[in-house]
Amino acid sequence: MPLPAPSIDARAVVTGASHGIGEALATELAARGYHLIVTARRESLLNDLAERLSTRYGVTVDVWPADLTDPTHRAKLADELATRNVSILCANAGVATLGPVAELDPAGERALVQLNVVAVHDLVLAVLPGMLARGAGGILISGSAAGNSPIPNNAAYSSSKAFLNTFSEALRWELRSTGVYVTLLAPGPVNSGLPDFVEESVVDKVIPDYMWVSTEYTAKASLDGLRRNKMRVVPGLPAKAMSLASTYLPRAVLAPIVGNVYKKLGGG
Ligand SMILES: NC(=O)c1ccc[n+]([C@@H]2O[C@H](COP(=O)([O-])OP(=O)(O)OC[C@H]3O[C@@H](n4cnc5c(N)ncnc54)[C@H](OP(=O)(O)O)[C@@H]3O)[C@@H](O)[C@H]2O)c1
Repeated sequence: MPLPAPSIDARAVVTGASHGIGEALATELAARGYHLIVTARRESLLNDLAERLSTRYGVTVDVWPADLTDPTHRAKLADELATRNVSILCANAGVATLGPVAELDPAGERALVQLNVVAVHDLVLAVLPGMLARGAGGILISGSAAGNSPIPNNAAYSSSKAFLNTFSEALRWELRSTGVYVTLLAPGPVNSGLPDFVEESVVDKVIPDYMWVSTEYTAKASLDGLRRNKMRVVPGLPAKAMSLASTYLPRAVLAPIVGNVYKKLGGG
């Protein structure tokens, strides 16, 4: 069974659609004819996106503002998705923090785990029964190459992405004969703009230009990968090489090296 074709009765859902990779995924899905549910906290950005995509591609875009670190918002969205015909779920929203765990704001660290791990898990569990009943569906999970190894000064983020990387690839095997596709997006650096706590001049010194890929390229590669039920999409050759190294080098060698890079980025 191929990935479901666009249908007016079905929706492709994108979390974190107000910016960056999520916005690019929503745009690429709309360009491929999919009707959408887009979600994030910033409702005005979602409304602008919905207006742009419906005008340009003639698709229906339902806007669902939600803070996915909030269990009540999460449950409301999960309940809604469980009743809808969700053909594709892009579980993409995520945040990062930088610095030693002991020095970071505990509330921020808890929120990271709620968003990066619990929300993805909740939404996958919400859409899975419907996809299985229909014998078709696609789940794209935004993990990260950062989830391939422990990263000091980025501990909660890299661990949250390790959960997603492993969960996605395990789920894919469980679902291999059900018609439900699961693909992990595990990128290296994607040019979606830097968070406030990272200085551009520092990033320029630490991450060479050739490592970056665009959000548009990432979205296209991800959805092409999902269409082929690829296990993992790592956009760009440099990121592929980095990903291989971080998967196969001994952790005792890798962790201090990568931890030092994250320290230079502002993590300590
Ligand atoms: N960019 C990279 O280099 C890179 C590399 C590897 C993996 N990734 C992963 O790819 C995904 C997207 O990254 P990105 O760079 O595109 O991020 P981004 O540009 O910072 O966008 C993050 C998205 O998540 C939403 N979001 C943040 N906090 C939220 C919350 N509490 N509730 C609901 N939505 C929330 C944001 O919208 P609102 O602020 O409006 O809520 C925004 O739409 C993330 O999971 C990230 O970890 C990114």
